[in-house]
Amino acid sequence: MKIAVTGAFGYLGRYIARRLLDAGHSVVTLTDSLKRENPFGDSIRACPFDFDQPGRLKESLAGVDALINTYWVRFDHRLFTHRAAVENTKVLFRAAKEAGVRRIVHVSITNPDIKSALPYFRGKAELESDLASLGVSYCVLRPTVLFGKEDVLINNIAWSLRHLPVFGVFGSGEYKLQPIHVEDLASAAVEKALGTRDEIINAIGPETFTYRELVAMVSKALGVKRLIIGVPPGVGYWACRLLGMLVRDVVVTREEIQGLMEGRLYVDAPPLGATRLSDWIHLHQETLGCRYTSELARRIDRASSYRSN
Ligand SMILES: NC(=O)c1ccc[n+]([C@@H]2O[C@H](COP(=O)([O-])OP(=O)(O)OC[C@H]3O[C@@H](n4cnc5c(N)ncnc54)[C@H](OP(=O)(O)O)[C@@H]3O)[C@@H](O)[C@H]2O)c1
Repeated sequence: MKIAVTGAFGYLGRYIARRLLDAGHSVVTLTDSLKRENPFGDSIRACPFDFDQPGRLKESLAGVDALINTYWVRFDHRLFTHRAAVENTKVLFRAAKEAGVRRIVHVSITNPDIKSALPYFRGKAELESDLASLGVSYCVLRPTVLFGKEDVLINNIAWSLRHLPVFGVFGSGEYKLQPIHVEDLASAAVEKALGTRDEIINAIGPETFTYRELVAMVSKALGVKRLIIGVPPGVGYWACRLLGMLVRDVVVTREEIQGLMEGRLYVDAPPLGATRLSDWIHLHQETLGCRYTSELARRIDRASSYRSN
């Protein structure tokens, strides 16, 4: 099959592209980072997103059987917004339909909610409903937090544990999350691209942690003893803002803290992924968190590859 995947030089998209190529599919990627290091050479064709020229986007998708969409922005920023990401994704869906794409696999988030005050979860809900009404066969995958070598969140928790004397969790830290390994999600995305049934699937890993348990588990795996304390979310946010100034990144947003504390990264569902974060961390304990991973740097530097932790 000919399959298009967004962001093949990024994080999840890269794992998906690798699996597609290994399975013998012809692969096209859509990206705004055409100059980013391309690990696939000539094996995949890279086209720009062209959201403002839907005709060109349609041309890029000509002959494509299935589209796997990972495109999204993590937070609102002066350089990018959730609103624009929602509108761009709608353009992408329509271009795919007009190009004759028969199947769309769309990566969403656990607990999307059209009524949420949080633009991430509201925007993802809007897109799920747009996709469902598009008239193209689809599968929505709803992951929680991903982990893998190019990961941001777990790596930066490890970095903080390695470098700071105390770790503050927002509020009680008792809200849950179920991290899924990037390979497990990529495998599901590839499998579902070949399917025909309209489906919405919670893409969660096999382990559930409270945030506090997660931090404690990472700390133990790294062999560092740190005091883990609950801090008011506002204090935690400002501490992260200060840290962000030092590392020149948006460490966490108020909305992300709220989403975490509302338990939006937890669902009562069977696991999709088999890889256990606790096992994976033990395998990567020497390197995890040795360096800070900056989300913003990935958006500003469009030529370097995502660094592997
Ligand atoms: N990472 C996680 O922990 C996590 C957790 C839950 C859900 N998800 C979902 O999984 C999907 C993939 O996430 P990922 O972390 O693997 O993302 P990623 O590879 O960093 O980016 C995915 C795609 O979105 C584009 N993109 C990302 N941020 C952008 C920005 N600020 N402005 C413009 N374009 C941007 C990238 O553009 P380029 O091609 O130009 O690089 C790429 O095509 C997303 O839909 C996300 O919502 C991720």
